Amino acid sequence: MGHSAAVWDYRAATEITKDWNGIDKIVLRNPRGASARVSLSGGQVTSWRNEQGEELLFTSNKVSSKPPKAVRGGIPICFPQFRNCGSLEQHGFARNKIWTIDGNPPPLSPNDSQGKSFVDLLLKPSEDLKCWPHSFEFRLRVSLAADGNLTLISRIRNVNGKPFSFSFAYHTYLSVSDISEVRIEGLETLDYLDNLCQKERFTEQGDAITFESEVDRVYLSAPNVVAVLDHERKRTYVVRKEGLPDVAVWNPWEKKSKSMVDLRDSEYKQMLCVNGAAIEKPVTLKPGEEWTGRLEVSVVASTLSSEHFDLQRM
Ligand code: BG6
Repeated sequence: MGHSAAVWDYRAATEITKDWNGIDKIVLRNPRGASARVSLSGGQVTSWRNEQGEELLFTSNKVSSKPPKAVRGGIPICFPQFRNCGSLEQHGFARNKIWTIDGNPPPLSPNDSQGKSFVDLLLKPSEDLKCWPHSFEFRLRVSLAADGNLTLISRIRNVNGKPFSFSFAYHTYLSVSDISEVRIEGLETLDYLDNLCQKERFTEQGDAITFESEVDRVYLSAPNVVAVLDHERKRTYVVRKEGLPDVAVWNPWEKKSKSMVDLRDSEYKQMLCVNGAAIEKPVTLKPGEEWTGRLEVSVVASTLSSEHFDLQRM
């Protein structure tokens, strides 16, 4: 059998177009029709669709934000800080910078590229980064697998500068049918810092986490697999992480949404942020050292409870 026609050309499945604002975006496609979009603005994933063309990430319809401000939704990258401390902007500068396509990415392990359509992006220090004067290279690979899974791999290197520390999060806006119908499994019994109570430390009680008011927490030392079950849509997101000890969970609920310029009043119902992150203990890199943080999100059509659902095996 001649095999050339049957071979999926993953490179050809990557297309570069312009965003509405003239900034390059990369469209990744897989053979079954799933797709993902990544903008050079912030290195942000702005869309991830399954093979039926259904959007899996939330993005707000209220587009008041112009670059360099990140689009409300998708997966903004929070680096070198999460939230606000010191003189840096909230969630750091990475999401507000224009990234470049990395023409010369160092090789990754075969598993991280095989059978996938992917793009490699790069962020380096720029003139205006006087507030964070460190010698870093941030390489981001976004890939879409044949089974539709979305993977983000961040590699941050100290390029022979002084040691520096950072915190990090993949601020992942999952699209949900109705926040009141959703639950998270995998964070039960963990300690968390509650941002609504001056970062006070609490221990999660009870079963799965459900939502009936604003939630803004960082779960500490979380397992590497967490599931988000959307009962109404019969869809479960499975979030796998490596190198990212914490999970930040956020939903602004009604009152906070009303104060946000780039979120419609009732859109909080359709979103839930479950962010693989390194927050409580910042990462420190000495000259020449590199850190890797990996996130993989997949979707299974199910709302089985944890009794039927072995998170460890997924
Ligand atoms: C969350 C934070 O992760 O991000 C919240 O915990 C914050 O406190 C939210 O409000 C959104 O942040 P931003 O900067 O994108 O409006």
